[in-house]
Amino acid sequence: MTNEQYYDMKMPYQDALNLLLARLEVLNHTMYDDGTERPIHNIQSRIKEKRSIEEKLERMGHTASVACAKDHLQDIAGVRVICYFVKDVDDLVDTLKNQKDLILIKEKDYIRHPKPNGYRSYHMVVGVPVCYLNSMEYYPVEIQMRTLSMDFWASMEHRVCYKRERPDKTVLQKELLSYGEILQEMEQSFEKYHETKR
Ligand code: GTP
Ligand code: MG
Repeated sequence: MTNEQYYDMKMPYQDALNLLLARLEVLNHTMYDDGTERPIHNIQSRIKEKRSIEEKLERMGHTASVACAKDHLQDIAGVRVICYFVKDVDDLVDTLKNQKDLILIKEKDYIRHPKPNGYRSYHMVVGVPVCYLNSMEYYPVEIQMRTLSMDFWASMEHRVCYKRERPDKTVLQKELLSYGEILQEMEQSFEKYHETKR
């Protein structure tokens, strides 16, 4: 894939990402009746870099071409939505599923079904319609939704452990599992206080 091909390819994915980010902003300030409370703490987004696209395609056994990227990758455009509580994630997932023009392509609930390493988040891939002069096309955007404490855990785990070999890996994995439990307890306790406040 040449640089030029990459730039041409990523343009509509960037459009789809921008449209979804605008949508999330609107939902964030309209979702709860009391306009002062918002479900989202912050949002991060990225377009996958050329090298990561090529490496992932090669790992999957495909050629590193634009055609293969479009056919096999659903995370060229990615959004990470960090919420306060699990309830905020649930509400946002329901709301997104009710948006008539978006297509739900894939979802994985690692909150109800955490990965064996303790990873928790709600993943979905949605098709976002992008309208051009005379045409409309859906582009996939991967959305990862998680709470602040899940994000803290996942960021640390990614930094020290994810897809990496190290001699003390077993000890570390055990520690990570227990930190995950502690974080979940803290979060649930904050959520309880929040509910009694309402
Ligand atoms: P990828 O090939 O990595 O995209 O995985 P996948 O296609 O099986 O999708 P999945 O929904 O399982 O994971 C997609 C993304 O979620 C990853 O690229 C990470 O950003 C994040 N993720 C998944 N598992 C973990 C994990 O164990 N630790 C951390 N830190 N992040 C994870
Ligand atoms: Mg990925």
